[in-house]
Amino acid sequence: MRLRKKPWIKDEIITYDRWVVNEPNEYRGRWDEWFQNKAPIHLELGTGKGNFVVTLAEKHADCNFIGVEIKEEVLIAAVRKSVEKGLKNIAFLWFNINDIEDVFAKDEVSRIYLNFSDPWPKNRHAKRRLTHRGFLEKYKKILNKGGQIHLKTDNEPLFEFSLNEFSEQGFQLRNITFDLHNSRFEEAKKVMTEYEQRFVKQGLKIYRFEAVV
Ligand SMILES: C[S@@+](CC[C@H](N)C(=O)[O-])C[C@H]1O[C@@H](n2cnc3c(N)ncnc32)[C@H](O)[C@@H]1O
Repeated sequence: MRLRKKPWIKDEIITYDRWVVNEPNEYRGRWDEWFQNKAPIHLELGTGKGNFVVTLAEKHADCNFIGVEIKEEVLIAAVRKSVEKGLKNIAFLWFNINDIEDVFAKDEVSRIYLNFSDPWPKNRHAKRRLTHRGFLEKYKKILNKGGQIHLKTDNEPLFEFSLNEFSEQGFQLRNITFDLHNSRFEEAKKVMTEYEQRFVKQGLKIYRFEAVV
């Protein structure tokens, strides 16, 4: 799980060891020790350049936030934002979400955000979608009782696929909207991801739902 693909980024990232956990599986079941408190843990999976998770961390000092990202060249942008703001309640992890059960123990997580996940439009790639039932089974294990998953996407086929997968896996769906930025969900409009800012400028609709375990 070491950062090793791009040495110049690794050199910068290792200087930020207060924010980036290089061997995250060592903290499995012990994330409260890393944060030095027992606040609820909220993950953003596929965090990209991190605007969403960094803004939430600034707004909600009573929660611990973790951004997970596989590409270090975007992760570094998210880390720099947190360093500049001096945030204490946020960490970033560089690993493949396939391995999420190696990093978080049963019931360790309170909320997961899936924002603008890659749609993988070809049917033969459906298992790679982060809302495929194979992933949902893993999320169910690490989420605590009443844990939630909040999803946003601009991609209608992925949204429909996701609604079906979540409901077949026994999640309760709520607060569904096919046009978030023209909806009554004021809180959910306030914090946007980098992709969302771009799509909203282009006039695209944003689909959103919440799922409860
Ligand atoms: C389309 S981008 C969206 C980024 C961000 N959430 C946003 O809305 O601006 C999807 C991100 O998910 C990351 N990603 C996709 N599959 C992943 C995986 N299996 N493990 C970790 N990160 C992944 C990609 O590297 C990419 O940065």
